[in-house]
Amino acid sequence: MFHLRHFLLAAVLLAAVPHPAHPLTELESSQIRRFQDYLRIRTAHPTPDYAGAAAFLLPYAASLGLGTTTLHFTACKSKPLILLTWPGTDPSLPSILLNSHIDSVPAEPEHWIHPPYAAHHDPATGRVYARGAQDDKCLPIQYLEAIRGLRAAGFAPTRTIHVSLVPDEEIGGEDGHEKFVQSDEFRALNVGFMLDEGQASLTDEYRVFYADRLVWKFIVKATGAPGHGSKMFDGAAVGNLMDIIETVAGFREAQFGKVKAGKSGPGEVVSVNPVYMNAGTPSPTGFVMNMQPSEAEVGFDLRLPPTEDIEQIIRRIKEEWAPAHKNLTYELMMKGPVRDVAGRPLVTLTNESNPWWSVFEHAIISSGGKLAKPEILSSTTDARFVRQMGVPALGFSPMINTPILLHDHNEFLEDKVFLRGIEVYQHLIRALSSFKG
Ligand SMILES: *[C@@H]1O[C@H](CO)[C@@H](O)[C@H](O)[C@H]1NC(C)=O
Ligand SMILES: *[C@@H]1O[C@H](CO)[C@@H](O)[C@H](O)[C@H]1NC(C)=O
Ligand SMILES: [Zn+2]
Repeated sequence: MFHLRHFLLAAVLLAAVPHPAHPLTELESSQIRRFQDYLRIRTAHPTPDYAGAAAFLLPYAASLGLGTTTLHFTACKSKPLILLTWPGTDPSLPSILLNSHIDSVPAEPEHWIHPPYAAHHDPATGRVYARGAQDDKCLPIQYLEAIRGLRAAGFAPTRTIHVSLVPDEEIGGEDGHEKFVQSDEFRALNVGFMLDEGQASLTDEYRVFYADRLVWKFIVKATGAPGHGSKMFDGAAVGNLMDIIETVAGFREAQFGKVKAGKSGPGEVVSVNPVYMNAGTPSPTGFVMNMQPSEAEVGFDLRLPPTEDIEQIIRRIKEEWAPAHKNLTYELMMKGPVRDVAGRPLVTLTNESNPWWSVFEHAIISSGGKLAKPEILSSTTDARFVRQMGVPALGFSPMINTPILLHDHNEFLEDKVFLRGIEVYQHLIRALSSFKG
């Protein structure tokens, strides 16, 4: 017979069971410790401790028998790009690159339940709390620990494997991956395929990203005759600007509607959001209230799937969102690459026409994992620079059953999920580096 009192007792006992049910092995504990050690190095902007990260990573990689190289793409040499190398038995084949960025976004400690740089490992839940736990300081430790396991098992890669740790991803990558892909050093690596960061999955299916959206911005400026606050007239600057804000909002609703209806992923639509508005005539007490200003402007964040018809969007901005006949002008900032070196959209194919995709997919399955439908990432990563060079790249972070906490307060990764990720990378590295095709 069901008895509420028994149920409550059982619930209390369950909650008291330490996590995980079986204790961690010595190797697993040391892997968690290395993850914590790396998280404790303060690599958050605006003052990332790149030297501290290098001092941790270089001896760590050397202890695993990997080659180490440090590159600099700034004159002051304050932003190291670290390359770790496990040579393959056939160095003539294109190599595999496993990428991650060293930097992270800042944290606001007052909103955290554990200090963001303490890397507290909660014994009750197994969670390791730290800025960077998901984005993306788990990755290099998982890559290196997977390599440790493969070496211990006597595995010898056919293709050379490189691990890159790059600066400045969170601030656009200009002194990091953007310059790296243009360098002789990158060309010399002869990269055939890259894995980069992805995002956590709420379900038990791993997420994988085959493209990043393009990040553009545009500003619309309106001019018009000034007038008394009491007068109704056509052609005022604010009125004209409000009309186009409405037009943009209509487009935005249609795009957002596809996401709400589940027809498109958030990365598969064009997002356009107003981020600032500026108008009015300042007065000592605020703004002049009885005057309609002669100038007004609005700024938009605009993000496009790389498969989008770029020319059509530019035409739309010119003709519908900032038409000159409404006394509007615009400035469009198209940041980052739009097409690869061969003029193709920055997309890595996820069907059998891309043999790397099949190797990736089979490796996930052989690890006992399930893959969700491949997605376009709604934000950006350094993978876009590598795709620009015509090199296929997938965004992947092995985090299932995990809330998406990148850039958020109380970012954490559970120990079990972290350790499982090491196994997944063992399967991936084994398969990718053995691929002869
Ligand atoms: C544009 O500005 C001109 C000059 O101020 C004005 O005559 C005209 O009515 C304005 N047009 C619109 C559509 O606001
Ligand atoms: C793979 O996908 C691309 C892009 O969607 C498509 O153009 C191509 O025909 C597909 N190839 C195969 C073999 O399915
Ligand atoms: Zn990241």
